[in-house]
Amino acid sequence: MIKYPDILHNIQLEINKVPDRGNVASYIPELSKIDPHKFGMHIIDANQNEFSVGDSEEAFSIQSISKVLSLSQAIGLIGEELWSRVDVEPSGDPFNHLSLLEQENGIPRNPLINAGAIVVADILVSKLKNPKEDFLTYIQEISGDKSINFDADVATSEKETGFRNYAAANLLKSYGNLHNDVDTVLDFYFHQCSLALNCKQLTKLFFVFMNRGKCLQNKTYLTTSQVKRINALMLTCGFYDEAGEFAFEVGLPGKSGVGGGIVALLPDNYCVATWSPGLNKKGNSKLGMLALEMLTTATKQSIF
Ligand code: DON
Repeated sequence: MIKYPDILHNIQLEINKVPDRGNVASYIPELSKIDPHKFGMHIIDANQNEFSVGDSEEAFSIQSISKVLSLSQAIGLIGEELWSRVDVEPSGDPFNHLSLLEQENGIPRNPLINAGAIVVADILVSKLKNPKEDFLTYIQEISGDKSINFDADVATSEKETGFRNYAAANLLKSYGNLHNDVDTVLDFYFHQCSLALNCKQLTKLFFVFMNRGKCLQNKTYLTTSQVKRINALMLTCGFYDEAGEFAFEVGLPGKSGVGGGIVALLPDNYCVATWSPGLNKKGNSKLGMLALEMLTTATKQSIF
């Protein structure tokens, strides 16, 4: 029997001792206002027992974590067809790099880097009647939480400074891999990234990937094969040019965001979310990664 409350308490004590918490993202001006001393962690196990420490009920911008959910909704809508427009290989590059996109004729390496997520956003804009509303409803239904919403200030802030994403979308368009207009797709993409959730809500949302496609309310959203693919992508691409390091240190499929959140899961076992806004040089939460390494070391459980 794993003593999660003791383990979480010890992790929090250790985290509080670390002097260098990393740097809060500033390229989206709204995110630079967040207090770097925040730290929260929440676990939900397969039997729906829950454990938490710190600021686990304070909402933050989930940013790139949303890419897993847009991918999941797009796979549900168009299935295997998606893989003709996005590849499934790790890029080994930072999340916003564009050089491979040009070398590889407008096919993004994977759906979790920005260019790949913009193609997925384009698919949702094509397939959904009211893209932003329908995506939000999807999130609210899977998590069972109708209070979840976009943060309009964060979306506007990113729109004003999202030059690289405009470059990515224009490059995709020039290769014929963006079917809608650049502004419409990016408006959707900036909103999906602005979703505000706390650690507790994130674990409830990602329960579906831990639980072979069935959400907390026991409704099936994805086949086991689709969940296998999404979890494989999180493991190999979820941390960009630090995916190897995350697998090496933590050993779980997971996804980070520049808001400082990380969500990770052990299939059939538990789902965990951390929030510490300071990022390392690769754009992943510095102390979130450390907390998760401590968790899998203490529990002696990982996928390996
Ligand atoms: O497109 C961007 O740059 C942001 N909306 C999301 C980037 C992000 O979260 C990268 N993850 N660590």
